Amino acid sequence: MSENPIISTRGICKSFTGPLVLENVDFDLLGGEIHALIGENGAGKSTLMKIICGVFPPSSGSIFLNGVKTHIASPHKAAELGIVLIHQEPLIFPDLNVTENIFAGHSRKTGKALVDRKGQFREAERLIKSLNVNFKAGDKVAGMSVADQQMVEIVSALSQDARVIVMDEPTAALTSGEVHNLFKIINMLKSEGRSVIFISHRLEEINQISDRVTVLRDGRKIDTRMTAELSQDDIIRMMVGRSITEQIPKTETRIGETALEVTNLTRRGQFKDVSLTVRRGEIVGLAGLVGSGRSEVAQTIFGIYPADSGKVAVNGTPLSMKSPAEAIAKKIAYVTEDRQHDGLFLDFTVANNISAAAWWKVYNKGVFRPEAEKKLVGDYVDKLRIRLHSVKQKVKELSGGNQQKTVLSKWMLTEPDVLILDEPTRGIDVGAKAEVYHFINELVKQGKAVLMISSEMTEILGLSDRTYVMHEGSISAVFDRSGMNKEAIMLAAVGGGKNQDA
Ligand SMILES: Nc1ncnc2c1ncn2[C@@H]1O[C@H](COP(=O)(O)OP(=O)(O)OP(=O)(O)O)[C@@H](O)[C@H]1O
Ligand SMILES: [Mg+2]
Repeated sequence: MSENPIISTRGICKSFTGPLVLENVDFDLLGGEIHALIGENGAGKSTLMKIICGVFPPSSGSIFLNGVKTHIASPHKAAELGIVLIHQEPLIFPDLNVTENIFAGHSRKTGKALVDRKGQFREAERLIKSLNVNFKAGDKVAGMSVADQQMVEIVSALSQDARVIVMDEPTAALTSGEVHNLFKIINMLKSEGRSVIFISHRLEEINQISDRVTVLRDGRKIDTRMTAELSQDDIIRMMVGRSITEQIPKTETRIGETALEVTNLTRRGQFKDVSLTVRRGEIVGLAGLVGSGRSEVAQTIFGIYPADSGKVAVNGTPLSMKSPAEAIAKKIAYVTEDRQHDGLFLDFTVANNISAAAWWKVYNKGVFRPEAEKKLVGDYVDKLRIRLHSVKQKVKELSGGNQQKTVLSKWMLTEPDVLILDEPTRGIDVGAKAEVYHFINELVKQGKAVLMISSEMTEILGLSDRTYVMHEGSISAVFDRSGMNKEAIMLAAVGGGKNQDA
């Protein structure tokens, strides 16, 4: 780590349409450091990074690069200055190959202003080799895992000799093995003297990877400290202004009859012979690696994709699995992890999104009742502490975690009997996670049945009454609460598990 900051911001303020979302932020990034940026949903992390990376300008304040005041007019300009943002949902062109993606937007020219394809290919090969990843310069990007797509973006950053690489929640969609690989690469970038800014809601990752950590709260910088000096509890207190335990409270419920029954469900190429049950009052975990077929099973139950064979029944009534409309009518809700694509109308207001799911509550004899909507939406905004300045804000203006909370509210309002939650707390901060867990506990107390797909072991262990584990499209084990432990679940997830009773 060098003594001198490579980037400094001074007095950065930002407001979009309403109040300030960043207020007088002074932030210093040293050469060769891994700097974690943390804070609750909506604290301003992504906004600060987008300002540094030229996505939009600050409302006031300055940015200094190696001590020189600099105007970063666009992401392109930022890249020329050696600052590159790696997106959480990688910005790739699926039809192009790896090399073409790496050089998209900054192609190398030969003398006659033609693209130097051979040179680019060789350079891509060299960089890929140096990172020790498992794709090739000529591979098509379509169908690659999120982890590999992210690597393509990292290679692209290196091809521009980026000195500062900003990663906004890069691990959110990665398996633990992939996170491990990414960390190796981050450490390698550091050893080459590059600086990395790393955003994550997972505190153990912050401890593992970062040299220093900056905490934002409500758009203000609380402090920058050496990570090694801080305990988990210190970090949480700085983030939320109070301590909270990461312990997940499990409430006792009365477990009733079977609400969801899946029998030998098969979809060729994705999953095979999946059988499971979820009873009223029960939280059933569905664990496994990313890509093991968990979401595909959920989507088939919900009628998004047809099954090749097998049966699904809700409260004893069989489902045809032909459309989500049928599933919704039979009181199933499916809360997806992919809020950008399936969960929300991004251009509509928060109020519209939430009330759309329960329109009958805001209409009376065909007449829209704004007060009813206001009350309904207000209740959920309070309950889940969705951070916004008005429910008339468009969903796309909310921070990632607050969008996720909006999706949850939307589905809760449909008053489902069976709720399928797909990574319910992805991108949600520690404080809000507790709210979500509390909410899930409340639901089962009311006799609802919850099937929870999760890659977070603490969540599975903390909340589930039973847990099924999937491996390569099949159920590899099932555990009840007493037999559940981290090692056994991980083993089953990689295909080495011993079944308890499956
Ligand atoms: N384009 C925009 N228009 C209006 N408001 C915005 C826009 N982008 C962000 N905001 C607001 O700025 C605030 C900070 O959002 P930001 O995305 O920076 O939070 P974050 O710390 O990255 O949160 P998360 O952990 O949920 O990703 C939020 O209140 C958000 O609603
Ligand atoms: Mg963010």
